[in-house]
Amino acid sequence: MLTLKNNFLEKIGANHGLSPAEIEKVKPRIREYLRRIRMRNQGFYEIIDESDAPYVAFAKSIKGKYESVVVLGIGGSALGTIAIASAMKHLFENELLKKKTPKLYILDNVDPNLLAEIEDVIDCKKTLWIVVTKSGKTPETLAQFSHFKNLLEQKKRRINEHFVIITDKNADFLRNIAKKEKIPVFDIPENVGGRFSVLTAVGLLPSAIIGIDTEKFLKGARNMRDKFFSEKWEENLSFQIATFQYLLSKKGKTITVILPYSQKMFRFADWYRQLLAESIGKAHSLDGKLIHAGLTPVAALGVTDQHSQSQLYNEGPNDKFFIFLALANFGLDIKVPACHHHDETVNFLSGSTFGKLMHVEMDATVKSLTENKRPSMIIEIDKINPENLGALFMLFEGSIAFLGEFLRINAFDQPGVDRSKELTREMLLEK
Ligand code: PA5
Repeated sequence: MLTLKNNFLEKIGANHGLSPAEIEKVKPRIREYLRRIRMRNQGFYEIIDESDAPYVAFAKSIKGKYESVVVLGIGGSALGTIAIASAMKHLFENELLKKKTPKLYILDNVDPNLLAEIEDVIDCKKTLWIVVTKSGKTPETLAQFSHFKNLLEQKKRRINEHFVIITDKNADFLRNIAKKEKIPVFDIPENVGGRFSVLTAVGLLPSAIIGIDTEKFLKGARNMRDKFFSEKWEENLSFQIATFQYLLSKKGKTITVILPYSQKMFRFADWYRQLLAESIGKAHSLDGKLIHAGLTPVAALGVTDQHSQSQLYNEGPNDKFFIFLALANFGLDIKVPACHHHDETVNFLSGSTFGKLMHVEMDATVKSLTENKRPSMIIEIDKINPENLGALFMLFEGSIAFLGEFLRINAFDQPGVDRSKELTREMLLEK
């Protein structure tokens, strides 16, 4: 279950908050924006209809075969999987003494230390590498693939026993290698961009391998899609978020801070950081005007960053909109012992619980921001489970689609990222 509370927007006055009248004015745009979004032929809301996908059968077929799974990918090819694994698995999963599923490692960098040191914790003979790249052309992922393929060849291993590739139908280079080496390949549909691909094989194959019920993700995403397609303001949570971001950006709130009050949800904030930055940061509007659109995303963690960021958030420039991601139920709770309860330094903690501390500290942070006229909203899930996570992915993907319409930009391309890939290629060729 997922709920959204935006009751703080009205409490901070017209300069920094939003009045009901301002919101009322944009509500009628839902229908037109939905029409335009459908015309863009984006698959992020269609892919979730794919039940019994081939990657699920593949995950079943390799059960018990590998000790470790290493994902090679970057950006949208890694962040969703990191978010899922962090949310759904034990916080110290790879250190668990007794494990039923393979250890998952996600290498989303080309730092040589990372490539070298992973070998110290895996047994290559018992490892599956999942190569994920939508374009099939990303220098980092191709370099990683070459490195580990070479390593396995030197060890005289059968390549097709150790690799899986997830890519676009047109990724000829990887597909040709896969054909030659008989490496299994799973598709990323053509109309699904990297940062919108978490609910395809990109996020769901690794999830299925580490024992997560992927059908439940899809179910949660489908429920949220119904809301995304609703023309009613009250139901359409994605449209609500986009509306707040858009209207507040016009009042100078050009930074969106996403703040999960849950250790397990922190990496979800990283996933959103990419989604917002790459989708909305655009030089040109749809009609070709130079506008340099963009909202700067910041990922912060409650309560940790209260002791690192909240001074700035409360008293620094009033240029931020805060999205709190709250968890009603942590799945367990721990009492703060009533030791030294006669001492006023700690007596307020006695009898409380750590879960309560998380909740109260979030409420206190929201309150202080409100007092300082900083707009915020709370998105609350009742617990962390695949349905809620699937719903959250769809909620934010939908909000980005709407935000693209508000700003009249193409939220689905990434010419800036593509240019840096091209330049990397050119500059390496020159050397
Ligand atoms: O969203 C995007 O398209 C990008 O951020 C990509 O996810 C990132 O550049 C990796 O690209 P690819 O999946 O093509 O390797």
